[in-house]
Amino acid sequence: MKPFTLVSIILVIVLAASYIDAFTRNNFPKDFLFGAGTSAYQWEGASDEDGRTISGWDFLSHCSNGSNGDIACDGYHKYKEDVKLMAEMGLEAFRFSISWTRLIPNGRGPINPKGLLFYKNLIKELRSHGIEPHVTLYHYDLPQPLEDEYGGWINRRIIEDFTAFVDVCFREFGEDVKLWTTINEATILAFGSYGEGITMGHCTPTPSKSINCSTADSSTKTYLAGHNILLAHASASELYKLKYKSKQRGSIGFSIYAVGLSPYTNSMEDEIATQRANTFFHGWMLKPLVFGDYPDEIKSAMGSRLPVFSEEEAKKVKGSYDFIGIIHYTTLFVTNRPLPSIYPTNINKCFFKDMDAYMITTGKSSFIELEATPWGLEGVLEYLKQNFNNPPIYILENGVSLKQDSSLQDTPRVEYIEGYIGAVLNAIKNGSDTRGYFVWSLMDLYELFGGYMQTYGLYFVNFSDPGLKRSPRLSASWYTGFLNGSIDVTSQDITQLQSNFSGSYSL
Ligand SMILES: *[C@@H]1O[C@H](CO)[C@@H](O)[C@H](O)[C@H]1NC(C)=O
Ligand SMILES: *[C@@H]1O[C@H](CO)[C@@H](O)[C@H](O)[C@H]1NC(C)=O
Ligand SMILES: *[C@@H]1O[C@H](CO)[C@@H](O)[C@H](O)[C@H]1NC(C)=O
Ligand SMILES: *[C@@H]1O[C@H](CO)[C@@H](O)[C@H](O)[C@H]1NC(C)=O
Ligand SMILES: *[C@@H]1O[C@H](CO)[C@@H](O)[C@H](O)[C@H]1NC(C)=O
Ligand SMILES: *[C@@H]1O[C@H](CO)[C@@H](O)[C@H](O)[C@H]1NC(C)=O
Repeated sequence: MKPFTLVSIILVIVLAASYIDAFTRNNFPKDFLFGAGTSAYQWEGASDEDGRTISGWDFLSHCSNGSNGDIACDGYHKYKEDVKLMAEMGLEAFRFSISWTRLIPNGRGPINPKGLLFYKNLIKELRSHGIEPHVTLYHYDLPQPLEDEYGGWINRRIIEDFTAFVDVCFREFGEDVKLWTTINEATILAFGSYGEGITMGHCTPTPSKSINCSTADSSTKTYLAGHNILLAHASASELYKLKYKSKQRGSIGFSIYAVGLSPYTNSMEDEIATQRANTFFHGWMLKPLVFGDYPDEIKSAMGSRLPVFSEEEAKKVKGSYDFIGIIHYTTLFVTNRPLPSIYPTNINKCFFKDMDAYMITTGKSSFIELEATPWGLEGVLEYLKQNFNNPPIYILENGVSLKQDSSLQDTPRVEYIEGYIGAVLNAIKNGSDTRGYFVWSLMDLYELFGGYMQTYGLYFVNFSDPGLKRSPRLSASWYTGFLNGSIDVTSQDITQLQSNFSGSYSL
C-alpha cells in the first residue's frame, strides 16, 4: 500500500467521526455512575500477610527478577487513606477486585477471617463515604494450587471451585455490594493466558516466540478456557439469581475486552476482515451469553477445536447477565493481508491467525501512548446495541498510559478522558443503555504489561518513596471538577483532540 493511501484513509475516518457537543456531568442520567478502578493484585500488596497465599499472577511475576505486586500501592494497609482520596475527588463508584487467595487461601476450604475482615472494612468505608462499590470477582489471580492441580481455566473443575468462592462473596458482602462482575476481560484471559503466552501460573518465557499456532495446543486451550469461563460465569450468575438476588437486589455481569475496529483500507477484503475480527473479539463470548451459542463463523473456522455447549449448558449461559462490562482502550485497524514488518506484530499471534485478520495499532508503539480515538468507543457501543439486543453496559476500564507520567501535568490524559466520556454520551443519546464509566486507574498500579513503568493513575504514586505517597495529577482535579459540575467540556476541546489525532499521522 502506498503511504498516501493510509493518510487519506485516516483523514476520512477522522472526518467521519461524529461530532461531540459540549457537555457536563448533568447531561448524563442522574443514576449513571462515574468511578475509577483498581484490582487486588495491582493495588493491595501485603501479598503474604495475614494468611493470603499465592496466585498465578504472583507466581508469574516472581519468575523473573523484574517487578511484582508484593507491595504494589499497599492498598491493604492504606485503604482508608485511599477511600478518603476517592471521596475528595468526588468519585461516585469504585471498582476493585477480591483476591481469591486472601479470602480463601489455596482456593478451596475455610475462609480466612482476616481476609474477610479486610473486604468488609473496605466496603464499609466506601459506603460510609457514599461511594458505590463495584466488585470484580476474578481479576487474573487464580489460586496457584488450582493451576497446579488441574490447569486452572482449561479444566471444568474450575466451575465448581469458582462457584464456591463467589458463594462466599455474595453471602458475606452482598448486603452492601450491588454490582458484581464475575470475570475481568474474559476474552483476553482466555487467549492471553491460555494461548498467546502470558502464562499466569507458569514460568514460560513471555510472550513465547516458539509457539507454532498451527500445531501447538495453545489455540485449542484458548477456546477450552473460554468455554469454561462462560460456564463458570453462568454458574455464578445462576447461584446469585437463585439464592441472593431477591434479597440483595444487585446486578451481575460479565466483562470482555472490547476494541474499536476499523478497516485499514476501503477494500472489500478489509471490510470483511473487520467483520470477522468483530465476530472473534466480541461475538465469541457475547453471542453465547445473549443468544446461547457461538457464532457460526467461529464454529466453521474452528471445527473440532471449538467446544460444544450441551443443550442444558446453552440454556444456562444464555441470558446469564444483567449487564455487560467492557474494557476499552483503543481502536485497531484491520487488514486481510499479512503486514509489512514495520508494524508491531506482538498482537498478531494464534488467536489472530484463527481470526484470519491482521491488526495495526493506532499508537506510536504497541500499547503505550495509544492515540485517543473516542469514535472507536462510540462504534463499539453502537455495535453492541445493534448486534446484542442493546444490553446494559458498564465501561469498566478506559484510560491511557503516558510516557511522562512522573509529571503531574497529564494534559493528554485529561483530553483522552474528555473525548471518551463525550463518545459515551453520544452513544447514550443514540440509544445505548450504558450505565457507568470507570477510569483506569484510580492511581498508578502494578500493571500486567510494564509493571511500574507503565502507569494510568489519576493519582501519581511514588513507588520509590517508602510511604508510597499519592499525589493528584491534573486529571484527578479535572475529574473532580467534571463530577461536581463546575467543568464544561466544550466542543473545541474535542475538536482539538481530533485534529491532533489526524495531525500525528504523517507516514
Ligand atoms: C535473580 O537474581 C539473582 C541474584 O542476582 C540470581 O541469582 C537469579 O538467578 C536471578 N533469577 C532469575 C530468574 O533471573
Ligand atoms: C508450524 O507447523 C506446520 C505444520 O506442522 C508447519 O507446516 C509450519 O512450517 C510450522 N511453522 C513454523 C514457523 O515452525
Ligand atoms: C494538541 O495540539 C496543541 C497545539 O499543538 C497542543 O497544545 C496540545 O497539547 C495537543 N494535545 C495533545 C493531546 O497532544
Ligand atoms: C444511531 O442508531 C441508529 C439505530 O440503531 C443507527 O442506524 C445509526 O447508525 C446510529 N448512529 C450512529 C452515529 O451510530
Ligand atoms: C519519590 O520519593 C523519593 C524518596 O522519598 C524522593 O527522593 C523523590 O523525589 C520522589 N519523587 C517524586 C517525583 O516525587
Ligand atoms: C469542584 O471541583 C474543583 C476541582 O476541579 C474545585 O476547585 C471546586 O472547588 C469544586 N467545587 C465544588 C462546589 O465542590
